[in-house]
Amino acid sequence: SLSAAEADLLSKSWAPVFANKDANGDNFLVALFEKFPDSANFFADFKGKSIADIKASPKLRDVSSRIFARLNEFVNNSADAGKMSAMLDQFAKEHAGFGVGSAQFENVRAMFPGFVASVAASRAGADAAWDKLFGYIIDALKKSGK
Ligand code: HEM
Repeated sequence: SLSAAEADLLSKSWAPVFANKDANGDNFLVALFEKFPDSANFFADFKGKSIADIKASPKLRDVSSRIFARLNEFVNNSADAGKMSAMLDQFAKEHAGFGVGSAQFENVRAMFPGFVASVAASRAGADAAWDKLFGYIIDALKKSGK
């Protein structure tokens, strides 16, 4: 889990993002698909679709809101070792079951601080805290064989 200081940086950088969660959730997912086009192919609703079609799809909000709700839970529990371990375990099993693994989350890890910075000025230390959170997700996926 993260230290109390890291968790604080994480939640302060997340607050302005989650404050406008509908638009920012959609923007996050579209930014991921633009930067890593293969990512869209893991989602039955987006497989083979153009970015324009994904942006116009009523499914975009369904998928992005589930992602943002879960990210919010990670942020809120990031300093709680017991909760983090249970959440990471469940998350990795879920995503491994969808055929999604560490490679896809290395992509998220690479673009996430830039995405956060596109919403609000990034805070010193927050990038490292996000990096650590996605590192835990990647480790959990590797542990579950993906
Ligand atoms: C489903 C969270 C990133 C692929 C889900 C679900 C959640 C979630 C909560 C719904 C689980 C359920 O109700 O059964 C997240 C979070 C992410 C993330 C917090 C962090 C950024 C990704 C990435 C990929 C991916 C990077 C692939 C490139 C999928 C797929 C599903 C899914 C294929 C199955 C359902 C569907 O097709 O919509 N994710 N996810 N996720 N996720 Fe993720």
